[in-house]
Amino acid sequence: MKLIIDTANVKEIKRLCEILNVWGVTTNPTIISKENKPFEEVISDIDKVLEKDQVLFVQVVSTDYESIVKEGRYIATLRKNIVAKIPVTADGLKAIKTLHKEGIKILATAINNATQGFVAALNGAEYLAPYVNRMTNYTDGVEETIILQQMLDAHDLDTEIIAASLKNTGQVKELIRNGIESVTLPVDIADLMYLNPATDTAVEAFTNSWYKAYNKKTLI
Ligand code: G3P
Repeated sequence: MKLIIDTANVKEIKRLCEILNVWGVTTNPTIISKENKPFEEVISDIDKVLEKDQVLFVQVVSTDYESIVKEGRYIATLRKNIVAKIPVTADGLKAIKTLHKEGIKILATAINNATQGFVAALNGAEYLAPYVNRMTNYTDGVEETIILQQMLDAHDLDTEIIAASLKNTGQVKELIRNGIESVTLPVDIADLMYLNPATDTAVEAFTNSWYKAYNKKTLI
């Protein structure tokens, strides 16, 4: 099981990497543009806070086949452990085939139904990002992601699902308990994976009991 963080904010990446077992970081053009810095600077800053074995996902911006391929190749040069994200369109699928043959790792993204994910896997994508919450406008996003996993399993495809567009921990729990290998979490949902006011209340009560008995708030 892999926990991934869906942000380009270096401060948040650093903070969450200290708290959680973060396998990697996903970005997209919207996420990167929120940082108000040049693209190369955003990538270089993220690279500085990630360990070498943590994976970074960077998405192409162009929408035509030739330019997607060009951008995919460029992304592959930015860092050793990097995956190019390509949306599943007709041009995107063509580009996935080409880049896969060149040995460039691809995450097929903006997947809004199981068949899109399946054809991207057949084209050689290593990872698939179904947009779970966005899908709920049309269908049950969690269920559709589980169907995609079943389709991959039925044909022995080892393409890995990284469930994306998650808006609550309920969605995350359902995906994890149904065996989905990876989830990429926005910062607020990543925090909600471990924060709980009842735990804070319990810790406060322990501290108060200790203080009353020993007049200090530490063990040693
Ligand atoms: O990588 C972004 C993807 O997870 C989509 O998320 O929140 O824009 O639906 P959202």
